[in-house]
Amino acid sequence: MTDEPLVLGIETSCDETGVGIVRGHTLLADTVASSVEEHARFGGVVPEVASRAHLEAMVPTIERAAETAGVALSDVDAIAVTSGPGLAGALLVGVASAKALAIGLGKPIYGVNHLAAHVAVDQLEHGPLPEPCLAMLVSGGHSSLLEVSDVTVGVEPMGSTIDDAAGEAFDKVARLLGLPFPGGPHIDRQARSGNSVAIDFPRGLTSRRDLERHRFDFSFSGLKTAVARWVEAQQRSGATIDVADVAASFQEAVCDVLTRKAIDAASSRGIEDILIGGGVAANSRLRAMAEERAGAAGIRVRVPRPGLCTDNGAMVAALGAELVARGRTPSLLDLPADSSQPITTVVA
Ligand code: KG4
Ligand code: ZN
Repeated sequence: MTDEPLVLGIETSCDETGVGIVRGHTLLADTVASSVEEHARFGGVVPEVASRAHLEAMVPTIERAAETAGVALSDVDAIAVTSGPGLAGALLVGVASAKALAIGLGKPIYGVNHLAAHVAVDQLEHGPLPEPCLAMLVSGGHSSLLEVSDVTVGVEPMGSTIDDAAGEAFDKVARLLGLPFPGGPHIDRQARSGNSVAIDFPRGLTSRRDLERHRFDFSFSGLKTAVARWVEAQQRSGATIDVADVAASFQEAVCDVLTRKAIDAASSRGIEDILIGGGVAANSRLRAMAEERAGAAGIRVRVPRPGLCTDNGAMVAALGAELVARGRTPSLLDLPADSSQPITTVVA
């Protein structure tokens, strides 16, 4: 359909400079320039390094996206950009670039919430979102359970991590095991040849007492410490560490808690669809376990393909297109970058 909105989306909340172009629910271009290699030797993202990398990558990434999509920038109906949450300096580069484009092209601008964009991206793969749906967002910076009745209006938080994010736990445990950053994909790969019941690691916030106060919240810092203690004990006793078994047992503990709580949250509200997003949604065991357990509970699961789960510009464009399609009011041109933009604010 040609009356669907053509939207360009810009994402710079962390270390990926993402520019996506969509027409309605159709993905036309998803161009990502990552500075991840510049951060690898520090074992985590260095904000100032990320900001400078965004600055250098922005114009070429926009040009590549337009070329891939085969559209002229003057054809777009709106510009969408992540306004938060994220790293302040990194967000600023995206927001300033989006404003320059919006002013230069005379188009409306939508400053959007990064988490809501992780939810909206699934429309590019599986069509319109079921309303309501239960979204579980798991990445390096966030782990939350959200009830989404209309992704363009608001998202209701049901629970979140009380310490480390799920991806952060993957990255820290990978580091303990001597695997490169970011650790998630390496743990995933190692775990395939490991025994997931070799070590019984703790499941955070699942005791009856914890469930009273934190039924839909997560905690991964105790698990990370348990892995560290186990590795230290093995080293002290001179035993060799089977990295694959540790990776598989750790991954099993994370996926067990995530899937159990997501299904409990959906069931508690009578919601029949769970959507998983964020970088950790690329995890093969999480995808398989979620499908299996949700299926048994009569709940459908949607997970975008791995490339759409990690940070990208297409997710921002997808949310932007939905905002335009539903006639939502654009942001003002003095739109700020808000490093702690609440999930309840979809458009800044
Ligand atoms: O959404 P994302 O790209 O960036 C943030 O907003 O944080 O997520 C990155 C996180 C990292 O912690 C990375 O280790 C994790 O997602 N990740 C994975 C996998 N692929 C990426 N974790 C587990 N298994 C994976 N296959
Ligand atoms: Zn993200």
